[in-house]
Amino acid sequence: MSKIFVDACFGKPTPYTPVWMMRQAGRYLPEYMKVRAEAGNFLNLCHDPEKAAEVTLQPLDIVGVDAAILFSDILVIPDEMGMDLSFVKGEGPKFSDPITSQEDLDRLIGGEEAADKLTYVYDTIKLLRKQLDERGDEKALIGFTGAPWTLATYMIEGQGTKTYNICKKMLYSNPELLHNILAKVTEVVKLYMEKQIQSGVDVVQIFDSWASAIEPGKYDEFSWKYMVEIAEYLKEKYPHIPIIMFPKGVASFIERGLVYGNFDVFGVDWSTPMAMAKKYLGDKYVLQGNMEPCRLYSKEATTTCVEVIQETMGGERHIFNLGHGILPDVPVENAIHFVKECQRVSKK
Ligand code: CP3
Repeated sequence: MSKIFVDACFGKPTPYTPVWMMRQAGRYLPEYMKVRAEAGNFLNLCHDPEKAAEVTLQPLDIVGVDAAILFSDILVIPDEMGMDLSFVKGEGPKFSDPITSQEDLDRLIGGEEAADKLTYVYDTIKLLRKQLDERGDEKALIGFTGAPWTLATYMIEGQGTKTYNICKKMLYSNPELLHNILAKVTEVVKLYMEKQIQSGVDVVQIFDSWASAIEPGKYDEFSWKYMVEIAEYLKEKYPHIPIIMFPKGVASFIERGLVYGNFDVFGVDWSTPMAMAKKYLGDKYVLQGNMEPCRLYSKEATTTCVEVIQETMGGERHIFNLGHGILPDVPVENAIHFVKECQRVSKK
């Protein structure tokens, strides 16, 4: 039997519009905090398949979403390429030796060798596949990766950034090095996604969270074309696995008609009006999104938005989601309210 989430990704009719939330497994859930404390820290949790599987499934039971997203992080890829990831309390992710030259890049592990090191991710997926099949409730499992550009921003800056000045300096003054980084990451990501699929995910999403840092005229060259290359590689071998692309903050790239590629679902972020995305992309791609995540602080603001999105999409070729990740201080009951409202307004 096919899963309603997978059907929706392919634009097939479903009894209601399925819903999930980006970053749905995380700190707003007391149950997550408990398992993270048992693991000691966030990275230990990512490396422990039993515990990672447990927190992956929490939002299904607590919040009622229609799909689980693998619990891991986009930054495990550069970590296994040899970049030594750490999370500094209150400061977020850090790499001790950011890439500044071709020599730095050449020192990193690439291709199959790097993808093979992510065994704990594949073990988590295999465990989840078994557990989801045993539940028999037809909920889908989403695998994911960061887009090469978003990963490269951390690999070059060494941490999160507000200005992206170090990687943008490279973009304009040494584009060849940036392309070499992007190409090396793309090769690892292709194999990493393929191994996630072979381990049992139903759907994959590519997060380009920092897409909006690139000017629209350069976005294809430095990010989108690499995402499309990954999608083409996977589609050729695994056409039955839907691919979701989530480039955040690219309204003007959409409006200029620059979106192309062989994938199934376009994730619309909260700063892009859904009606605009529908006008330019709705015939070709199923749309996912796009409630502003901070609306979750108010149940009324949530209901209003869910109703407007439903009216815009008409219950067709759509998956409900937030327009970016849920924040840690959102009350759990408000997240439950969001999910229930999406299922209520779209029930056929
Ligand atoms: O529920 C899910 O969505 C699955 C798990 C998931 C995590 N990170 C867990 C996580 C996913 C899909 C990600 C993706 C991710 N990681 C992205 C892209 C998505 C997005 O939100 O744009 C990015 C940019 C990262 C990098 C990253 N990881 C940052 C910047 C941080 C720190 C930010 C913060 O909120 O503190 C992380 C850590 C992280 N990844 C946490 C979780 C649950 C918080 C760690 C903790 O428990 O303290």
